Amino acid sequence: MAIGRPANPGGLLLLLLALLSVAAIATAEVFFEERFDDGWENRWVKSDWKKDENLAGEWNYTSGKWNGDPNDKGIQTSEDYRFYATSAQFPEFSNKDKTLVFQFSVKHEQKLDCGGGYMKLLSGEIDQKKFGGDTPYSIMFGPDICGYSTKKVHAILNYNDTNHLIKKEVPCETDQLTHVYTFILRPDATYSILIDNAEKRSGSLYTDWDLLPPKQIKDPEAKKPEDWDDNEYIPDPEDKKPEGYDDIPKEIPDPDAKKPEDWDEDEDGEWTAPTIPNPEYKGLWKPKQIKNPNYKGKWKAPKIDNPDFKDDPDLYVYPNLKYVGVELWQVKSGTLFDNVLVTDDVEYAKKLAEETWGKNKDAEKAAFDEAEKKREEEESKADPVDSDAEDEDDDADDAEADDSDAEIETKTDDGADSKDEIMSEDVKDEL
Ligand SMILES: *[C@@H]1O[C@H](CO)[C@@H](O)[C@H](O)[C@H]1NC(C)=O
Ligand SMILES: *[C@@H]1O[C@H](CO)[C@@H](O)[C@H](O)[C@H]1NC(C)=O
Repeated sequence: MAIGRPANPGGLLLLLLALLSVAAIATAEVFFEERFDDGWENRWVKSDWKKDENLAGEWNYTSGKWNGDPNDKGIQTSEDYRFYATSAQFPEFSNKDKTLVFQFSVKHEQKLDCGGGYMKLLSGEIDQKKFGGDTPYSIMFGPDICGYSTKKVHAILNYNDTNHLIKKEVPCETDQLTHVYTFILRPDATYSILIDNAEKRSGSLYTDWDLLPPKQIKDPEAKKPEDWDDNEYIPDPEDKKPEGYDDIPKEIPDPDAKKPEDWDEDEDGEWTAPTIPNPEYKGLWKPKQIKNPNYKGKWKAPKIDNPDFKDDPDLYVYPNLKYVGVELWQVKSGTLFDNVLVTDDVEYAKKLAEETWGKNKDAEKAAFDEAEKKREEEESKADPVDSDAEDEDDDADDAEADDSDAEIETKTDDGADSKDEIMSEDVKDEL
């Protein structure tokens, strides 16, 4: 036996596997994690965006009106009709050959009827004091609610300086409790969207966004062959018109009609019975339709490789990710962000979600139910019989919602490409 040759190859294999898995753990990396504990103010830079118009909203450092742990605080929008923009920096990295996980929790305590709850990853150098709606970003991800038509998870990817919305509808949570949103982007150009650690969507960057032109297109040269039979049904050649069919009159004299007693043939002319539709009459004769034995199906142009398609193996790569930011417009404030995470470790993200949202969710739900009960009791105490007044309240709410739509559109007008795209997508949704 040669020196150094393993006496027990199986044992060596196990050792190797063990070493490999240690290596795998060692390469897992957390690029950014913000639990909003002490010192968080030093990590986040509040932008001056909209400050000179007095439209920059204040963040409230709080665990909210209901929570599973009063000491677990996050940042919450605290003023209505305000813009919010804040960001934090992390050491620049590229997700090339790495899985990218972007995760945070969000709670809309205000019963959000129109507003966003999304966050952004930004690249390169940005002036954090000027971070706002026009600042280019790499990824925008998270829930967006407006009226009845928009209740979705945004996943906007910037590619080649253009923002692309996900083409698939991903519904978001709409209650007033904390939920964890996770976006996973893998080196094989697949992605997953998770809410509360449950996968809601997954697929490919190639199919679920229009980042690149399509791989295949319909052959523009192709023509339907002359002899292509796309009639699914034909008249039955065996079916013959019954003899005498055309002799059946459409109308016949009414057999029940009687000449009126006072009919005077000299004055009124010869009496004829009025006609009625003939029950025997079956209309123009048409042969039965039968399945066409030569039917070839609907003709479709064959697909060919798209000459404009050029694959990009780095489709998923963001080479200099460096900031995480929140940039929102809120009609009604009360959106609370917490536990922001950027990592390449799916398992770590899952664990963090379990240890925060997962651990607290039951207590939070109980606290919420309690708060709701109290609110309802107070409302019925304040307003025991007059239900009309409540109706008026509702109308006022509706008017407010309408307003908010208008204001959002105003923002859109001077907003970035992405905003325009969001609006047009929403419009598309409504069509
Ligand atoms: C911050 O949130 C807490 C808990 O909901 C609330 O009591 C407090 O009034 C809020 N402060 C501001 C400035 O909005
Ligand atoms: C990137 O954008 C430029 C300018 O809009 C365009 O000419 C080019 O084809 C785009 N490249 C890809 C890969 O989409």
